[in-house]
Amino acid sequence: MKVTIIGGGGRVGSCAAFALQCAGLVAELQILDANKDLAEGEALDLLHGSALAGDQRVYAGDYARAADSDLFLITAGLRRKPDESRLDLINRNVALFLQILESLKSAGVKKEAHAFVVSNPVDILTQLAVQRLGLPWNQVYGLGTMLDTSRFSSFVAEVLKLAPTQVKALILGEHGDSMIPVWSSATVNGLPLAGLAECTPGFQNTVFERTKGSGAEVIKKKGGAGWAVGIAIRDVIHSVLLNKKALLPVSSLVQGAYGIHNICLSVPSIVGRKGVEKHVEIKLWPKEAMGLQQSAKALSDTLAKVKV
Ligand code: 2OP
Repeated sequence: MKVTIIGGGGRVGSCAAFALQCAGLVAELQILDANKDLAEGEALDLLHGSALAGDQRVYAGDYARAADSDLFLITAGLRRKPDESRLDLINRNVALFLQILESLKSAGVKKEAHAFVVSNPVDILTQLAVQRLGLPWNQVYGLGTMLDTSRFSSFVAEVLKLAPTQVKALILGEHGDSMIPVWSSATVNGLPLAGLAECTPGFQNTVFERTKGSGAEVIKKKGGAGWAVGIAIRDVIHSVLLNKKALLPVSSLVQGAYGIHNICLSVPSIVGRKGVEKHVEIKLWPKEAMGLQQSAKALSDTLAKVKV
């Protein structure tokens, strides 16, 4: 698989490149960035490690050289200010994102190529990519609440002193202020978390609020996410590359699941070689289902305001 990272000179893109290089499954990594020196610098730094990391090819390129890519990872964008919500970003990032889509279309993308959006506001930008790129909807998806789900599960494990990889706790909906925690299906090694005495409403609220504020917290402390988002990106790409059919909370065009139509947000999705192969309507508690509807409403209201 050849992956081109648009914005690969930035923190998110370069962390994703490193996570993919260390995993050694992707055959080719092209780093593309408006800042050419940065793209070349990141590609060079990764190349320096390839004798130890793996045999994939890593190089800096341009849109013309990207035309044969199997997957375009779009991480380019301006970062939020700590007190700014992701949706506030919309006016600043939409113009840049539409330019990227135009450059991709003029360079030409294979009809079976995938577009994987990480730039924020990721749900809105994923929707624009579905509308504008001319690829089938299932080949266009966003990181959605994958990172939130990792943060949520990691915090639960940290507080309850459990093995993080055994905690499976989903966040669904918008990658943003209206995201929802899914306690109804949260488990530790298959056992329901809700059954633990420590899993009190107070604990649940504290962990979820910490999760929801994590993007701003990491921006405040170090300027922006990197390591965890790189791993979250890696897992989505590997589910495609290995045709894993993993059930992941990625953002894609929802067409009826949970009564939601024509909005991109994260619902449980089967991800394989074809991209988002289907949405799975796992049973939710009524308040969770309502939260998901409200998240879809918040996104459609914002989408209506997008100046394109
Ligand atoms: C975050 O939550 C990058 O939006 C991402 O940190």
